[in-house]
Amino acid sequence: MSETEALDLNIHDRLLWSDGPPHEEFREMRARCPVHRTDSIPEFGDEDGFWSVTRAADIREVSLDWRTYSSASGITTVSDSVIPVDLISAMFIGMDPPRHDRLKALFQRGFTPKRIGEHEDEIRSITREVLDRLAARDRCDLIADVAQPVVSRVIGSFMGIPPEDDESWANLMNSLVGFGDPDLNPKAPETVMQEEIPQIFERCSALIEARREHPTDDLTSVLVHAEVDGERLEEHEIVMGFFLLMAAGNDSTKATYTSAMLALLEHPEERQKLLEHPELIPSAVEEALRMFPAFSHFRRTATRDVVLGGQEIKEGDKVVLWYPSSNRDETVYEDPDRFDVARDPEHQAFGAGGRHFCLGAALARLELRILLEETLERFPDMALDGEPSHVVSQFANQLKKLPVRLRSA
Ligand code: HEM
Repeated sequence: MSETEALDLNIHDRLLWSDGPPHEEFREMRARCPVHRTDSIPEFGDEDGFWSVTRAADIREVSLDWRTYSSASGITTVSDSVIPVDLISAMFIGMDPPRHDRLKALFQRGFTPKRIGEHEDEIRSITREVLDRLAARDRCDLIADVAQPVVSRVIGSFMGIPPEDDESWANLMNSLVGFGDPDLNPKAPETVMQEEIPQIFERCSALIEARREHPTDDLTSVLVHAEVDGERLEEHEIVMGFFLLMAAGNDSTKATYTSAMLALLEHPEERQKLLEHPELIPSAVEEALRMFPAFSHFRRTATRDVVLGGQEIKEGDKVVLWYPSSNRDETVYEDPDRFDVARDPEHQAFGAGGRHFCLGAALARLELRILLEETLERFPDMALDGEPSHVVSQFANQLKKLPVRLRSA
């Protein structure tokens, strides 16, 4: 029996994901069958299965070759899980060149290092203001009380959303990203489709309309008034781009910050290093991104028959890139499961290069650095105050509760 046949496991099984990504199973796959087949996804009406790519070098090969591995037929294991694939394909994350490149170039204007850097003081004051609210409290939930309000205000200020709308935007986005986890979204997929998504679109359209009439200097205004080769963006292109940024901005940085904080609370010696050497915080950010990538996967679809990692992939097959696995690939990292704030690793949390590399990487890094700096300075002896819990999802790799005691007893 070949090793491939011997490795009979369904990596999509929800039971494996109840406490975060199944690292043991990924280790087995990397060792025995690094490009592995799951034949079908029974919990989604026997949807077609997929190939799992688990090693860093193979994920990089796929990410760089957009001609062979397309993003235009769905970007998650299950094509139509919450957001139908035709809506995904209207966002540039779900497009191939040349359409993808044309739109991304435009959005990149709002995300140049200079433009991001200009926001440092603002992000720091947003963070301080949120931490100030905890002055009279002994305990809090780091997600609800710190991470969510900070990331929502940061992306809200980029997009030009008034602060009083942050919470409702965050709830809408969480219910989409946390689909399938009853704590974040108890609703059925049809309700999400019929209620949540139209609400999101109505809000986007209203904001776009307002910026058309009264330009400001926020990103929504940049998008409404930008021209590529003499052409303005179409309304639906702006709406879908706006939606993509809100979803990415509300969620991923929150996920990485809270996972980083949990790791620091569980490894007091690593936290001590950061307290004594705050200059290590940027390295700790990279280590948190490596160990706890906010998205467990993105997907491509093969446009031709191709061999990857010794497996024969057929045209039309789904190819899933598992970042929690590649970021712990033992051919790349020594002692990959060890959280080491001084490691300063390269990683694939933002993707592995290529056309779809994360647009918001510089913003996310800046937010994460500031969040860690300010939290550690304000609450150097924070401690866990109960059991943290994880969102049950093969896509969103994040905690949903992180109860802490803010000061020593
Ligand atoms: C810790 C935070 C973040 C992580 C881990 C993350 C991760 C990722 C990943 C894995 C991809 C797909 C890469 C690929 O398919 O090759 C991606 C794409 C993207 N991200 Fe992020 N992201 C983060 C924060 C952000 C933020 C703050 C924004 C914007 C506000 C953002 C906007 C985007 C966009 C627009 C894309 C699509 C890029 C494209 O298709 O060309 N991300 N991100």
